[in-house]
Amino acid sequence: MRVDAVTLFPGMIDSPLSESIVGRARAEGFLELGFSNPRDYAEDRHRTVDDKPYGGGTGMVMMAEPLYKAIRKVRKKNSFVILLTPKGRRFDQSLALALAKKKHLIFICGHYEGIDERVTPLADLELSIGDYVLTGGEPAAVAVIDAVTRLIPGVLKKGDATVNETFTGGLLEAPHYTRPGVWRGRKVPEALLSGNHKRIAEWRRERAEELTVKSRPDLAPAEKKKKKALK
Ligand code: ADE
Repeated sequence: MRVDAVTLFPGMIDSPLSESIVGRARAEGFLELGFSNPRDYAEDRHRTVDDKPYGGGTGMVMMAEPLYKAIRKVRKKNSFVILLTPKGRRFDQSLALALAKKKHLIFICGHYEGIDERVTPLADLELSIGDYVLTGGEPAAVAVIDAVTRLIPGVLKKGDATVNETFTGGLLEAPHYTRPGVWRGRKVPEALLSGNHKRIAEWRRERAEELTVKSRPDLAPAEKKKKKALK
């Protein structure tokens, strides 16, 4: 997959996505990550990319033309353009799965108070990573690119690593344990040591349902919530 980020601060994206699994995915060619900087398309000798908002108010607004040219530089026929903004649709695992099927993603990262509204029609999707305001779209782009990259076939070594995980099955994932079997007096649950695959699967399903009802009741199936309420 090809991903381009339109950003004034490419290092904020390039650096975190050079480590760990995504760094390896880039090295192995699963993810090709490029950058397009609006400052390269500024039209004055100060390389200005922002200006005061019409109508007054605090903060600066990113100007339309440098942004437009930076997008045009990387946009192709099959590109899917995403504008990162706290006003967008909330990102989740189902969107990550849909985006992982695209050939080319372009992320537009706003900074300052936002971008000139006339640029927004260039985006296919306005996307938020949660109900809080970041200093810019870059940390949001990192989160989305990370979540999408690990879903590209071949990036995770174990083919089924994403099948049972949190959110994919609509539930949070059951807890994990590794050696030692007893750690500072705390034992690994007996079911996991049984070697009985059916029992282990049942235990995991029950813990996943319990955890979902407790931590994310909004995700829990209705009949599980009712059961909990009757207890
Ligand atoms: N830019 C600033 N805050 C953001 C958020 N929560 N999601 C996406 N982009 C943002």
